[in-house]
Amino acid sequence: MGGLFVSFEGVDRSGKTTQARLLAQALGDRAVLVREPGGTALGERLRALLKDAAVALDAHAEALLFAAARAQLAVEVVRPALAAGRVVVCDRFVDSSLAYQGAARGLGIDRVLAINDFALEGLRPDVTFLLAVDPSAAAARAGESDRFESEGVRLQRAVADGYEELARRFPERFVRVAADRPVTAVHQFVLRKVQELLAVRARGSAARGATPAAGERAAAAPGDHAPAPQRGRES
Ligand SMILES: Nc1ncnc2c1ncn2[C@@H]1O[C@H](COP(=O)(O)OP(=O)(O)O)[C@@H](O)[C@H]1O
Ligand SMILES: [Mg+2]
Repeated sequence: MGGLFVSFEGVDRSGKTTQARLLAQALGDRAVLVREPGGTALGERLRALLKDAAVALDAHAEALLFAAARAQLAVEVVRPALAAGRVVVCDRFVDSSLAYQGAARGLGIDRVLAINDFALEGLRPDVTFLLAVDPSAAAARAGESDRFESEGVRLQRAVADGYEELARRFPERFVRVAADRPVTAVHQFVLRKVQELLAVRARGSAARGATPAAGERAAAAPGDHAPAPQRGRES
């Protein structure tokens, strides 16, 4: 049974945490919910630093810290879970760095992609749901404020543009979802798409023997890790 690697992306308050949690709940025991940065001891420590507006952080340092947290998450949680046939549901992944540091901060998508390719050794989500919503409408929703949100809607617009560019660049895995609809409507759309992908995987495995997921193909040798525990807190 092949694993599936799902990520949620979008501007702040677009509904990523809400949708990641609902999807993981709907999938039950097969799902592993992780959030980024975080999901490991290292990642959670780095998360606290990255979210603290009182800590000075150059854009390059910021990009490298995110990549470091992601590298640890990939090795410790994502690859072992995919190898065990589970569905990894990630509340943000590599595209957040490409949109925030690469596009919005102006470091360049290709340069940020290069450090993340180094960090991840090619691991990418199988499907990335881009929760598309107007940044000012999203900002009006209730939620916690962090370093990025405190920089206001201008940054969020640049991030939204960055995501649109990524969706054009990686059409094979990006699925754009209108996220200005009610939570349950967005969830139904996402769940149907994930179930389709799982059905295609299952048919492929039955017909031709094992057809591993993209993430799983690049995974470490089998039998190295036990399935990861359920993770993720509200953010
Ligand atoms: N589709 C939606 N319509 C209206 N409000 C939503 C929707 N999805 C999420 N919210 C609300 O918006 C806020 C931000 O949602 P959250 O899932 O935390 O976003 P993110 O993780 O992308 O920052 C929360 O108060 C949440 O309840
Ligand atoms: Mg969130």
